[in-house]
Amino acid sequence: MDYKRLIAQLVKVDGVTENEIYDLLALPKDSAMGDYCLPCFKFASILRTSPMNIANNIAASITSQGFLSKVEAVAGYVNFTLNKTEFAERVLQKIAAEGNDYGKCNDGEGKTICIDYSSVNIAKPFHMGHLLNTVIGGALYRIFGALGYNVVGINHLGDWGTQFGKLIVAYKMWGDKQDIDRRGVRGLLDIYVKFHKEAEQNPKLDDEARAWFKAIEDGNQEALELFEWFKQITLKEVGKIYDRLSVKFDSYAGESFYNDKMAPVLDKLRELGLLEVSDGAQVVRFDDKENMPPCLLVRADGATLYATRDMAAAFYRKQTYDFYKCLYVVAYQQNLHFRQIFKVLEMMGCEWSKDMVHVAHGMVSLEDGALSTRGGNVVFLEDVLNKAVAKALDIINDKNPDLPDKEATAEMVGVGAIIFGVLFNSRIKDMVFSYDKALNFDGETGPYVQYTYARCNSLLERCGSIDCVADYKGVDNKESADLIRLLDRYPDILKDCARKYEPSILTRYIVDVAKAFNKFYFEHNINNAEDAIKKARLSLVSATKQVILNGLTMLGIKAPLRM
Ligand code: ARG
Repeated sequence: MDYKRLIAQLVKVDGVTENEIYDLLALPKDSAMGDYCLPCFKFASILRTSPMNIANNIAASITSQGFLSKVEAVAGYVNFTLNKTEFAERVLQKIAAEGNDYGKCNDGEGKTICIDYSSVNIAKPFHMGHLLNTVIGGALYRIFGALGYNVVGINHLGDWGTQFGKLIVAYKMWGDKQDIDRRGVRGLLDIYVKFHKEAEQNPKLDDEARAWFKAIEDGNQEALELFEWFKQITLKEVGKIYDRLSVKFDSYAGESFYNDKMAPVLDKLRELGLLEVSDGAQVVRFDDKENMPPCLLVRADGATLYATRDMAAAFYRKQTYDFYKCLYVVAYQQNLHFRQIFKVLEMMGCEWSKDMVHVAHGMVSLEDGALSTRGGNVVFLEDVLNKAVAKALDIINDKNPDLPDKEATAEMVGVGAIIFGVLFNSRIKDMVFSYDKALNFDGETGPYVQYTYARCNSLLERCGSIDCVADYKGVDNKESADLIRLLDRYPDILKDCARKYEPSILTRYIVDVAKAFNKFYFEHNINNAEDAIKKARLSLVSATKQVILNGLTMLGIKAPLRM
């Protein structure tokens, strides 16, 4: 319920619009002060009187309203307290009526958002480094979708570069088709690492690799077949991980897709006089005030680069999707790259360059191991997921050995713990991931929230349905009101995540909901309450269960009914 709107409509201040009032309405620090407060300090200069006077006048001007139980001026603020039983009834009925759709809206109707995320590299392991962009991108994809945007998830595959030449050489020398079919990317990684070791002794191998890469570019059939095979192996493997993380893409147009789409962009740059030759290479230089090195687009040997492909991709996306925003969920190491790309587009006169956003994120490392891609010492994300699932199974065996379908539950809990754990911090922060912290059933974790969800479910199953009219006085107490106020905010939380490209707002919110629920649950008896009261409390349990489910679904986390 948009109570802020209702309140904004009631408050009249000369020279201030309803929307300005709406934006000023805030949540009081202490819920005992009220449910909303309006600071009057900004009005003092317009009305030429003290904020205290203004607050007093506003409070006095508001006549009694069914949805408000109290309006009070305190030290330059007007505090509004909602009529709790009326409020409870409205919020709980709304959540019950909307169910899985609670929180959805059509704000984004008619607007397309491209989200470039995960964007893994072919023939390289899906390692921890790609965990964050995959889960942040996945969450944003679902959140924008829920807000009514048309979302296009793009996996900008790293499927171009000399490493494919190296792999072909390595495969032809030491490759064993059966082993690679069986072990997938791990098999490819082994021969790739071996290539690097051997090439140190024998530089001729590098020449061969270059020749094979050229063969791919020239469309040589044997080279293309191997390249496609490496790609299929990788995609099959990452596909399994995407399923476990509940992540989906609408396009897998990767770097190689832009092979024939770079020339027109380079021509245009030349035409505009933006492309300069520097030591044989072709670059775009920036104004001194940008404080950025030139953007290298063609190397002296004529080869194009990562940046050239991103330039072509930007035009392609604008033409194909006519996006309202184009997001790149990529680690902050690539800050410079994206600043350069966006600036070059701006210099080319693309007014839509302002709609490109680098949603930068930090790094995740493991408490028990360094994150290194050199020398084959990589942490495979698959192993991390499996380890979390095994630990979850141990905990379940310990806590609830008779639980049916333990393996399936452990999968939801283990994978959920990882997603929740890495989405808990603001995206820009680096973090050290700890299995034990993420799997702590009593911490601010995925399992804690899932456990609360299962608790709601079992309460509803156990107490059954009651045939009477609910008495919402049953939820007229501080713990219930705190919880209901939180549940009411869920739709705004989604919007806030979208505005800031920040899923952690939702992750933290779900923890707050679970905590508030557990306070309510420990303070107020449900099962032994009289029927009408019990019915109201159960509707609060049911609304909590729904909001946790909706929120976890946005994050890509599944919720077991029992655990
Ligand atoms: N494959 C790249 C990497 O692993 C990320 C690509 C991000 N997307 C883009 N359009 N540049 O670093």
